[in-house]
Amino acid sequence: MSNILEVKNLTTHYFTAEGPAEAAGDVSFSVRKGEMLGLIGESGCGKSTVASSILRLIEYPGNIVSGEVVLDGKDLVSAKEKELEKIRWKDISVIPQSAMNSLNPVYTIGDQIIESILLHEDVTKKVALERTKSLLELVGIDKDRWKSYPHEFSGGMKQRVAIAMALSCNPKLIISDESTTGLDVLTQAQVMALMKDLQKRLDLSIIMISHDLPLVTSVCDRIAIMYAGKIVEWASTDDIVNDSRHPYSQGLLNATPDLLNPDKEVSSIPGTVPNLVNLPSGCRFKERCQYAMNRCSEESPALLEVKKDHHVACFLEEGDYRE
Ligand SMILES: Nc1ncnc2c1ncn2[C@@H]1O[C@H](COP(=O)(O)OP(=O)(O)OP(=O)(O)O)[C@@H](O)[C@H]1O
Ligand code: SF4
Ligand SMILES: [Mg+2]
Repeated sequence: MSNILEVKNLTTHYFTAEGPAEAAGDVSFSVRKGEMLGLIGESGCGKSTVASSILRLIEYPGNIVSGEVVLDGKDLVSAKEKELEKIRWKDISVIPQSAMNSLNPVYTIGDQIIESILLHEDVTKKVALERTKSLLELVGIDKDRWKSYPHEFSGGMKQRVAIAMALSCNPKLIISDESTTGLDVLTQAQVMALMKDLQKRLDLSIIMISHDLPLVTSVCDRIAIMYAGKIVEWASTDDIVNDSRHPYSQGLLNATPDLLNPDKEVSSIPGTVPNLVNLPSGCRFKERCQYAMNRCSEESPALLEVKKDHHVACFLEEGDYRE
């Protein structure tokens, strides 16, 4: 299967008063056509930074320092702003971190979807309205509800409207940034199931950003795990669930209760994500890692393919260190 997006050695810094914070450090991964890729990590690991870098929407004091973001063969890091304006929304759209709350309370949800279509496409208002009705039906909302205001919808329905909006110009790729956070567990699962259904029906490519690894394992085809600005493991969901190699991925899997397996022992990862301005030397995970050894303080592990399509950045994979 060919790739719709290739992120190659992407490095993004925020130039803070204390010094540069490397929120994305030499990040590489790809998204296949029709694939849902999970981008997972705790708060502050750089997930939204990667999303904004892909769209070149990094704002001051941030800057893309190096790397490429290749969409369908075209590098967006070196593209002109005019070209990017055409690509954003039409080719890549985003369901932002606070999508539910980003709807304007004074306009009907239909008017807001229509406006986004008219802003990006040369069609009549009538065509935009018909498309809006189809989009609402596609996300499981009665088409006549286009006349409703955001306050007349539940959180889950507003989330569906945000998905309809993201789909409004038939994008090739959707980036969903923690878009179900804030919803109750059942509604989260329903929205995830809807995203999966749309991905299959429309042959969409989706980057699903979340801090909740178990939540995305039911919908993602592959998963990239991010820690303190680095991709530490990237593999098929099956491998992440059944053969995860990085201690951080293993910690994330054990850190959340599993509704289908209530007997599962839950244990949080000790410690916190390091300050990205003052990163420790060597492996960024070493202060929280039960396997850390001398080498982990001296060198930074590279992301290596340890078996087909399974990449890991940990010295444990390079030698016979594990018991
Ligand atoms: N505008 C900014 N100015 C300075 N530093 C920033 C800025 N935005 C992000 N950062 C730094 O980049 C790090 C990564 O931020 P980012 O928002 O990408 O993380 P995230 O993984 O999306 O977290 P969350 O799960 O909380 O959304 C932050 O911890 C912070 O150190
Ligand atoms: S490289 Fe070392 S510190 Fe980092 S995850 Fe592997 S064992 Fe732990
Ligand atoms: Mg974020």
